[in-house]
Amino acid sequence: MIGRLLLFLALLHFAVSAAAETVARIGSPGGVLSVELEIDPDGRPSYSVRRFGREVIAPSRLGFLLVDAPKLERGFRLADQSTRSFDETWEQPWGERRFVRNHYNELRARLTERSGLGRSLDLVFRLFDDGIGFRYEFPEQPNLSDVAIQDELTEFAVAPSGTAWWIPAFEWNRAEYLYNRTPVAEVGIAQTPMTVRTDDGLHIAFHEAALVDYSGMNLASVGQGRFRAALTPGTDGAKVRRPAPFPTPWRTMQIADSAGGLVMNDLILNLNEPNRLGDVSWVRPMKYVGVWWEMHLDRSTWASGPRHGATTANVRRHIDFAAENGFDGVLVEGWNVGWDGDWFGNGQDFSFTRPYPDFDLEGLAAYARARGVQLVGHHETSGFAAHYEDQMEGAFDLYERLGIRAVKTGYVADAGQAKVRGPDGLIRYVWHEGQAMNRHHVRVIEAAARRRIAVNAHEPTKDTGLRRTWPNMIAREGARGMEYSAWGNPSNPPEHEANLVFTRMLAGPMDYTPGIFSMRTRSPQGVQTTLAKQLALYVVIYSPLQMAADLLEHYEANPRPFQFIRDVPVDWSESLVLNGEVGDYVTIARKDRDGEDWYVGAVTDEEGRVLEAPLSFLTPGRRYRAQIYRDGASADYRANPADIVIEERVVTSADRLTLRLAPGGGQAIRLVALGR
Ligand code: NOJ
Ligand code: CA
Repeated sequence: MIGRLLLFLALLHFAVSAAAETVARIGSPGGVLSVELEIDPDGRPSYSVRRFGREVIAPSRLGFLLVDAPKLERGFRLADQSTRSFDETWEQPWGERRFVRNHYNELRARLTERSGLGRSLDLVFRLFDDGIGFRYEFPEQPNLSDVAIQDELTEFAVAPSGTAWWIPAFEWNRAEYLYNRTPVAEVGIAQTPMTVRTDDGLHIAFHEAALVDYSGMNLASVGQGRFRAALTPGTDGAKVRRPAPFPTPWRTMQIADSAGGLVMNDLILNLNEPNRLGDVSWVRPMKYVGVWWEMHLDRSTWASGPRHGATTANVRRHIDFAAENGFDGVLVEGWNVGWDGDWFGNGQDFSFTRPYPDFDLEGLAAYARARGVQLVGHHETSGFAAHYEDQMEGAFDLYERLGIRAVKTGYVADAGQAKVRGPDGLIRYVWHEGQAMNRHHVRVIEAAARRRIAVNAHEPTKDTGLRRTWPNMIAREGARGMEYSAWGNPSNPPEHEANLVFTRMLAGPMDYTPGIFSMRTRSPQGVQTTLAKQLALYVVIYSPLQMAADLLEHYEANPRPFQFIRDVPVDWSESLVLNGEVGDYVTIARKDRDGEDWYVGAVTDEEGRVLEAPLSFLTPGRRYRAQIYRDGASADYRANPADIVIEERVVTSADRLTLRLAPGGGQAIRLVALGR
């Protein structure tokens, strides 16, 4: 009897301690999403997310482990809460759409420890109808003035039976991996954005916004569909060190019924601070060609010597081609001293001001200017950020003087092998997405902004929407780019771009470098697409800097398909996803920011498909000449990538186009606005 009573009491205690109390609640403006903040009897906070009342994120823990201080994770009470609503429409200086609506309801909750140090932690949730962001804010307080974060305990509990698209974190090749498609339960440690489709078809993309002076977040599966933040390490036990007050980046979930809904979603930008550079009309989206693919094909070298690519004559030829074909820029890699020998390992050898003797920097910059073209600068650092910072001011001064308005930077180094200078002046090996490198990238962007220069970083830190705050952060790599199809084994598979659109691209623009016409490369598989798909990528993969990446002779030999690359703009007033499934296919329509024409791009994976594209986005009553670049009847990425048909017809908003895409294929369409 007594034994039974004890068991009953024990069960009762368990039931009580397991029951968390909802202490605050907030819904999105249209009542689509809601969040509840709960605190259990031990004072452990958690949050959960519902969509139309149905749970999509089960109660998920919040908190921090600190270095040499008690954790911030239990013993909390809700000390204060407030809500507010916000609704504005802001204008992008450049982008995938001109106007962005930022409409959310916000919950701010202060958690304070009930005893002990009595420390406080603020939680801020912003609910949009198509997504959620939340962050922590460390208030100024006597018992927590210098924060050293050992681990963030934030969790995301999603249905384990869904499907996830993800790339692994903490592997040597940083973000340059092919996407895995697995059950959620089989994810290991994933980078963000990670995209999930639940069994009932809901799409959720997990990422972060406004990653400033903090370390990048990965997601570690801890079983049963539960993910925990896995912050990128720092140089000692702390992953982040900062004096309070400060906010963490926003932890984000874009949530939509369809895959396309994830793309037509401005959550990440909206959670960033407005432009802090003032007039940024000097940041110009542009198309460029370059002395680049030839090195990846090993037809010339970055290093000096008889096969040097960046020679005055070769660059002049590229400037002439750019001027004759309406390109704004010419990228030149291998122009500066430091490429000889093992440049991957010898970042300290790079000079960012001394050209190789066979490259007439001043003369070429002047020649370019005279022809209405500009050189695009290049700073490969091999990840030696400290060495780059030593020279960066002088390097940007030089480029400013020469009228160079955009610079591609590069951080080729294995993960964990970037180098920064520690507070003690010594060189430290760090991760590309750790706090130190995130600080570095902001220093670079600000130094560049002072000279009105835009930056396109390769091997960057992840994109978290900072382009809103620093609009000269114009593009980046941060995924497996086209270069893998020059020399990779395997090269990028046909599904790669249909994966990117719904994962990496949710973070922001990518300098993917499309436009390859000659599919035989050093890679055993070659470029695994049709020619029409290469054209479609200019619409499908958003970037305000788009390269026509192939060798000039391949464009000269194919003037008709090349016309699409000449025509396609890089700045848009509107972008719409017409259809799509993650990793399978997608069709996107975009409107030229400087005109009335629309452009459509569709790509598929290794399957041939027939897609419907309703043109209801066109202005009613207006006629458009559709210039169609489609896969020919025998096109196939394996056997006949070059089979392309180029044809025209007149259409209106009442028409639907049926797009036939070959295996590994695509279709690109320009819709030229005619009179009414
Ligand atoms: C890697 C970049 O992604 C590529 O575009 C560049 O050519 C090389 N680094 C050399 O900087
Ligand atoms: Ca790269």
